[in-house]
Amino acid sequence: MASILITGSTDGVGRNTAEALLDEGHRVVVHARTTARLAAIQHLVDRGAEAVVGDLTDLDQVHGLVEQANALGPFDAVVHNAGVMQGPVLPVNVTAPYLMTALIPASRHIYLSSSMHRGGQPDLAGIDWTGERQTRSYSDAKLFVTALMAALARLRPDVLAHAVDPGWVPTKMGGTGASDDLALAHVTQAWLATTDDPEALVSGRYWHHQRTEKLHPAVHDKGFQDELLASLAEQTGVQLPAPTPERAARS
Ligand SMILES: NC(=O)c1ccc[n+]([C@@H]2O[C@H](COP(=O)([O-])OP(=O)(O)OC[C@H]3O[C@@H](n4cnc5c(N)ncnc54)[C@H](OP(=O)(O)O)[C@@H]3O)[C@@H](O)[C@H]2O)c1
Repeated sequence: MASILITGSTDGVGRNTAEALLDEGHRVVVHARTTARLAAIQHLVDRGAEAVVGDLTDLDQVHGLVEQANALGPFDAVVHNAGVMQGPVLPVNVTAPYLMTALIPASRHIYLSSSMHRGGQPDLAGIDWTGERQTRSYSDAKLFVTALMAALARLRPDVLAHAVDPGWVPTKMGGTGASDDLALAHVTQAWLATTDDPEALVSGRYWHHQRTEKLHPAVHDKGFQDELLASLAEQTGVQLPAPTPERAARS
């Protein structure tokens, strides 16, 4: 049995991921933006899921969420699933996953990316991480979080990092016209969080339906990764920790 935290589990792909992992008998910690939104996953709490609460647009609330999560950890995996397509794309899709990666110890970190990351621009000039001014697009945010995944894979050999494109699926975000299969959208993340399949034990990969796919070339650009990490560290006041000697020795 693995212990897995899933952000944004009150709807869509995140809720399906939580349900599937509970079905498989794992310990699941779900996340809602407010206590009121917990109502959407009461059925999962009734089945034994534990819950944490916090709005990912608010750095103080992300710290509160980290505290709640660490009281329930350590985790075998964190699935950074919560996302928005409009509005605060940087705080929700990038800054919150960065802080949670830095502050929540877990053996595996899995980030929801998108095929749209390939349209992103690897340019941080003039960026407003607070989201108060919308300085970047959804594609940019998904490129950044995918580069964060690759940076983690490079700098933390004690941790497995993956990014997943769930496909264009009919959720609140995807809309009713989405052409991919919602029933498949959570499968890769649930597998990566728990499997000992050797191909899933190679860090730094980008997946779609359990197959690796081509990335935007900036994702593996060390210079861009370092610039991204420095910018996020400056914004949050939190550095990505180095591997502990004990963990590094085991990797
Ligand atoms: N659907 C697609 O076609 C598609 C395609 C490619 C990638 N993705 C990615 O897959 C992930 C899941 O998408 P989805 O389609 O399942 O989206 P969704 O149905 O809109 O669900 C998004 C989840 O994130 C939560 N969330 C959003 N903003 C939040 C905030 N400020 N604080 C806390 N929680 C917040 C939502 O909470 P509420 O329920 O309270 O709103 C919800 O639980 C996202 O990262 C998305 O970018 C989706």
